[in-house]
Amino acid sequence: MAGGVAEIPPVRVEVGQAPEGMDELAEVIDGKQIAKECRRALKSRVSEFTEQVGNPPGLGVILVGEDPASAVYVRNKERACERAGMASFHHTLPADSSQQVVEKLIDRLNEDPLVHGILLQLPLPGHLDSKAMLARIRPDKDADGFHPVSAGMLAVGQPSFVPCTPRGCMRLIESTGRDISGADAVVVGRSNIVGKPMAQLLLSQNATVTICHSRTRDLDAHVGRADILVAAVGRPEFVRGDWIRDGSVVIDVGINRRHDGSLCGDVEYEKAFERAGFITPVPGGVGPMTVAMLLENTVEGAFRSISK
Ligand code: GUN
Repeated sequence: MAGGVAEIPPVRVEVGQAPEGMDELAEVIDGKQIAKECRRALKSRVSEFTEQVGNPPGLGVILVGEDPASAVYVRNKERACERAGMASFHHTLPADSSQQVVEKLIDRLNEDPLVHGILLQLPLPGHLDSKAMLARIRPDKDADGFHPVSAGMLAVGQPSFVPCTPRGCMRLIESTGRDISGADAVVVGRSNIVGKPMAQLLLSQNATVTICHSRTRDLDAHVGRADILVAAVGRPEFVRGDWIRDGSVVIDVGINRRHDGSLCGDVEYEKAFERAGFITPVPGGVGPMTVAMLLENTVEGAFRSISK
C-alpha cells in the first residue's frame, strides 16, 4: 500500500482548538508514530526468537518485474525488516517470467526453514495467475494473509494471518479510544486485500458493518451514518468531505496521485478534516502501519513455527 513517497510531518490539531468561526477540527491520527511504536515493541520479540532458535525471523520477498512503485514498497518493507533485526530474502524475477518459474520460487521459499513469511508483491504482470500464486504460498507462511485459508480462518473468527492493511487500520481505530462495539462502521471498497477483511475485523469487534462499493446507491447517506469510516476504493478524493459524519473516525487507505503529481487519499481531506473527530493523513497514516503489521505477521509466523 502506501510507502515510497516523501512523508510529510502530520499536523496535530487538538480537538477544541479550532480557529474562531470553525467547528471543532479533527485530531490527526499519526500512523507514522504508531507504526514506530509497533516496530519498537517487536524488536524484543525478534531478539527472543533469535536467541532461542539461532536465526532471526525471516521474510521471503518476491518481486516480478520492475514496476517502480512496487520496487519502492518492497524496498521499504525489506529495510523495515532489517531495522527490526529480521532477515529478508529478496528475489526479483524478470517481468516475462512464466507461472512455472514463479511457482518454483514460491515452493523453494515454502520449504526454506529460514523463511517464516512470504510476500509476493502485487500487482503481478498481466500474464500471471495471481490467485493461483497466492494459493501456492503455504498458509503457515502467508504473512500477507491473502491465502484462501487465511481469509476463511478470519471469516470463522479464528484468525491466523490477518492482512496487513486492515490489521493496521484496526490499530489506528483503537488508538482513538473510541468504542468499536456497537458503532456503525462503513467500509467503502470490497477488495480481498482490504475491504472484505476490514469488514470481518470490525464485525469481530461487534461493530455494525456496512460494505459499500461501486454499485452502492446513496453512498453519501451510508457514509453520513458512519461512526467509523474506512475508505479503500483507490480513487482520488472519491469520498466527499461533506458526507462525513460529525465527530467520526475516518481511516483513509487510499494513496493516489493527482494530475499535478501531488498525493491524495480516497477522502477529500480538507473538508473531512473540518467534520471528523479523528482522521488519518495521506501519506503518514495507514501506509506505515501496513509495513509494521507485515513484520508482526512474520514474527508471529516464526513463533508459531517453533510451537508446533
Ligand atoms: N501491493 C500493494 N499492497 C500490497 C500488499 O499489502 N501486499 C502485497 N503483497 N502486495 C501489495
